[in-house]
Amino acid sequence: MQGPMRRRPAAKPKNAGKTIGRLLKYMFRYKLHLTIAAASVIVSSAANVAGTYFLKPIINQYIVPLIGNKDPDLSGFASIIILLGMIYILGVVATYTFNRLMLNISAGILYKMRVDLFTHMESLPIRYFDAHTHGELMSRYTNDIDTLREMMGRGMPNLFSSALTVTGVFVMMLVLSPLLTVLAVLMLILMLYVIRKIGGRSAIFFKNQQKEIGKVNGYVEEMVEGQKVIKVFSHEDTVKGEFERLNEELCKAATSAHTFANILMPVMGNLSYIHYALTAAVGAVMTIEGYLDVGTIASFLQYSRSFAHPITQASQQLNSILSALAGAERIFEVLDEKPETDEGYIELVHIEKRENGEIVETMNPTGMWAWKHPDWEAGARYTEVTGDVRFEGISFGYNKNEIVLKGISLYAKPGQKIAFVGSTGAGKTTITNLINRFYDVPDGKITYDGININKIKKADLRRSLSMVLQDTHLFTGTVMENIRYGRLDASDDDVIKAAKLANAHSFISHLPQGYNTMLTSDGANLSQGQRQLLAIARAAVADPPVLILDEATSSIDTRTEALIEKGMDTLMEGRTVFVIAHRLSTVRNSNAIMVLEDGRIIERGDHEDLIKMQGKYYQLYTGMFELS
Ligand SMILES: Nc1ncnc2c1ncn2[C@@H]1O[C@H](COP(=O)(O)OP(=O)(O)OP(=O)(O)O)[C@@H](O)[C@H]1O
Ligand SMILES: [Mg+2]
Repeated sequence: MQGPMRRRPAAKPKNAGKTIGRLLKYMFRYKLHLTIAAASVIVSSAANVAGTYFLKPIINQYIVPLIGNKDPDLSGFASIIILLGMIYILGVVATYTFNRLMLNISAGILYKMRVDLFTHMESLPIRYFDAHTHGELMSRYTNDIDTLREMMGRGMPNLFSSALTVTGVFVMMLVLSPLLTVLAVLMLILMLYVIRKIGGRSAIFFKNQQKEIGKVNGYVEEMVEGQKVIKVFSHEDTVKGEFERLNEELCKAATSAHTFANILMPVMGNLSYIHYALTAAVGAVMTIEGYLDVGTIASFLQYSRSFAHPITQASQQLNSILSALAGAERIFEVLDEKPETDEGYIELVHIEKRENGEIVETMNPTGMWAWKHPDWEAGARYTEVTGDVRFEGISFGYNKNEIVLKGISLYAKPGQKIAFVGSTGAGKTTITNLINRFYDVPDGKITYDGININKIKKADLRRSLSMVLQDTHLFTGTVMENIRYGRLDASDDDVIKAAKLANAHSFISHLPQGYNTMLTSDGANLSQGQRQLLAIARAAVADPPVLILDEATSSIDTRTEALIEKGMDTLMEGRTVFVIAHRLSTVRNSNAIMVLEDGRIIERGDHEDLIKMQGKYYQLYTGMFELS
């Protein structure tokens, strides 16, 4: 459990520019929204800037001249105050519109990103899931998307409006007093320097934090799944220890990330106060000397605060923006993973046979299939699916330096039942993983009805095979739905027929709601054997030309197995079947039995032949040697 995650190389330094670019691409889908939002944010910033500017005429024209006046005329003053109020109201409305729109846009973008992430995840090859924990993947949907929401919904809008306000304020400050503006700019440079110093370092820590969150989530998920095993071996303390270690690392990463960010706030706050005081002092001297008037200095002071404020605010938003960028980068990492490639072009189609033997494609499920070769000149060419599967010199390893299958050659003629036996780890499941192209073979060739399986579209190839996997998985849903997973358009009757064939019908009828019983969390409310029966029924309902059963009957008692075997005989009729079994009773009536050892077929033949050979199979069968 400690291995794979720690061995992976440290995450590369982030490329914020590229990530932002990709996020922008998502944003540009909302051109109209963005345009209105941009207009609103301009209005809101302008109102803000203009409102402050009004201090100058109010003081200079309506207050200073009236000081000491016995009967002041306040009508001008009142109208300018009303105008000011209207400007502020306009500002509020624009700000609301802007924020509201940004919220819509960000929700839409996150929706699209989740869709993209999930769609892409579904396209990834099995290899990807071999190398990544569930929790790690899950955290893309939870944390990373969450931080992104924070940034898009709040961080970025604030940043935009701040940037605009700062620009507006800057222009107004220049108009009011160039000298005082120079002072403000010097202060700004100092602030930006501080942000760069502190913010730059926290970027690394934020990325780190996201990575640690992923690890903690991955670990929790794995431990939740393995709860029973943990209890069986009383490993609660060890697990807690490991969790504590990971949690501590997360804690450290989070602290470092936020330490820098948190230093930033007070530093910026203090700098802006110093700036305010300096401006007030210099401004006062200039006013006394007659270079400025009171109105100007009052409005400039106000500006100098709104000049510093957006920047300090942006510095606070920096946390959320940095972690969001780190999160977005992690999401894009998944999106950049190469999807499962499929250069296959041959399709599986339903066919009808005319009396003269001609094959015609049809949409109706006729129970007969053909491989359709698109052929430009002659139209399509069809090869009838018979279920003839051949391996020619297959060598394969999950990793380059570890060969699992070594030069496997075998054939299954249509309708034959081929059994694989052999000790655990010999490569039986691996062979089946190659037939349906979970993994591609670098060396050797697998043909299906004479066609190299590389040329067959993966989805079509997989549709032509039904597999009962070694570890069955049931989804949340009713028994009926779970069996129907084998073929989505199967009617209730088809499902029940398949269940009867798999001998699952009788136990299902005894469930509280029969076929409508809800299964939860991978069928935890069923026994192992019952789950296997459902898996067999699922394969049966698919009604494919080739069946692969990986230890399908290992958890079923001998009596039920005998019953299933009867059903299976019907199920297997006319189909090519590969069975992997540890039980010899399951294998003995196969047409051919392959005895695998260490990735090689060491013996082959039917039961009688192999017994006569007095080799490994004989040892296994006569009980001189346990199979696993
Ligand atoms: N996803 C994988 N990544 C890397 N190695 C794997 C993977 N799956 C299996 N292996 C390795 O391949 C070898 C063969 O495994 P396989 O699952 O084919 O054995 P098996 O014959 O089905 O065993 P069992 O009877 O226990 O099911 C084993 O040594 C195993 O370590
Ligand atoms: Mg196996």
